[in-house]
Amino acid sequence: MWTCWWLWPLVAVCTADQFLDQAKRIMQTTPVIDGHNDLPWQLLLKFNNELRQKDANLTSLTGTHTNIPKLKAGFVGGQFWSAYTPCNTQNKDAVKRTMEQIDVIHRMCQMYPETFLCVTSSQGIRQAFREGKVASLIGVEGGHSIDSSLGVLRALYHLGMRYLTLTHSCNTPWADNWLVDTGDHDAQSGGLSDDFGKSVVREMNRLGVIIDLAHVSVATMKAALNQSQAPVIFSHSSAFALCEHRRNVPDDVLQLVKQTGSLVMVNFYNDYVACKREANLSQVADHLDHIKKVAGAGAVGFGGDFDGVTRLPVGLEDVSKYPNLVAELLRRQWTEAEVRGALADNLLRVFEAVEQASNHARDPEETPIEQNYLDSSCRTSYGYSAAPGLHLQPAALLASLTPLLLGPRLL
Ligand SMILES: *[C@@H]1O[C@H](CO)[C@@H](O)[C@H](O)[C@H]1NC(C)=O
Ligand SMILES: *[C@@H]1O[C@H](CO)[C@@H](O)[C@H](O)[C@H]1NC(C)=O
Ligand SMILES: *[C@@H]1O[C@H](CO)[C@@H](O)[C@H](O)[C@H]1NC(C)=O
Ligand SMILES: [Zn+2]
Repeated sequence: MWTCWWLWPLVAVCTADQFLDQAKRIMQTTPVIDGHNDLPWQLLLKFNNELRQKDANLTSLTGTHTNIPKLKAGFVGGQFWSAYTPCNTQNKDAVKRTMEQIDVIHRMCQMYPETFLCVTSSQGIRQAFREGKVASLIGVEGGHSIDSSLGVLRALYHLGMRYLTLTHSCNTPWADNWLVDTGDHDAQSGGLSDDFGKSVVREMNRLGVIIDLAHVSVATMKAALNQSQAPVIFSHSSAFALCEHRRNVPDDVLQLVKQTGSLVMVNFYNDYVACKREANLSQVADHLDHIKKVAGAGAVGFGGDFDGVTRLPVGLEDVSKYPNLVAELLRRQWTEAEVRGALADNLLRVFEAVEQASNHARDPEETPIEQNYLDSSCRTSYGYSAAPGLHLQPAALLASLTPLLLGPRLL
């Protein structure tokens, strides 16, 4: 960008913004890998996932933070697209909705092969970089999407999921969400339940699915950081010390992030950046500075939450603006290596560690969640013992006794 002072008509003195030029030069070889983008959710809301609708053309899409020209202008080289379904689908059609969002991401890659390359590995990301495409990965946002099933977890892995956010804004039967820390929800699992919650973490480690701790309670953060054999990420969270919102990461957890080689990808949502409706790019840089100070430059990344939020900072209005944020870091004397870390190298390091810790030769986790943890209102119980356990809730107990009361019936 050129800043010009018009001294008098026809004469201009222009100075290049040296930091912006440097940012763009760096991003030509190290583009940004962003941790969280909700474009797939917008595609559902606006087009019911019909990508061939005229207005759904991603080259000319308007009214969103994300489209293809903006991604190119922003030097976006990697994106975890969010396969998100809201908490009100829990115990209903969460799995179906999640699979449909995974499908729409695959169809994006198929329809725009010159722009997107769907990948599932760190090596795939590097290949997309070389081809000048947006490495497209799938992050499933919310543990409710696996419906308390290790089988569904594994199936989503096979469909390309490479991170799972342990909760969205609701508890699952095995992990607590951030609203426990505001007092809006009751703690249920003490963070992560000892049996099934820990088994989910072990299975994610075994498969090579990154554990994402955005949206979870502080107790869940600590339990997962302790339990995981591989580093974890916060795909879209900022620093609690600068804005005391419970979606943000407190300093004692940042210490654990540092100890485990984990990563915080900073969220740009005004309400998490400034705890106000208004924010600016410089305040986002403050969050990056803070996380760097507490957890080290290796712990910093970008997780803009574009198309998942309604208010964004002045200077970071859409995905084309990443170079401006990088320029601000350079202005703040971040070294080129630190900047490359925040852009992509830190995420690649974490992903590679997760891949190395994975072990498909190890036996899969098999023990199902206990039946009494499951909402039984619209669910069958195949596989679970017919004999009612003593811990069944009264309604479930009554339901399981009904056949006995009514005598034998057909199966
Ligand atoms: C999107 O629109 C452009 C022209 O603006 C056209 O070239 C392209 O084929 C369209 N893509 C799809 C997938 O419809
Ligand atoms: C987990 O916590 C236990 C008990 O506090 C501790 O001994 C252990 O070192 C921790 N492990 C990790 C990986 O943090
Ligand atoms: C950004 O916002 C902060 C807090 O309101 C303010 O102090 C600062 O001057 C702003 N910076 C820019 C560059 O606008
Ligand atoms: Zn989110």
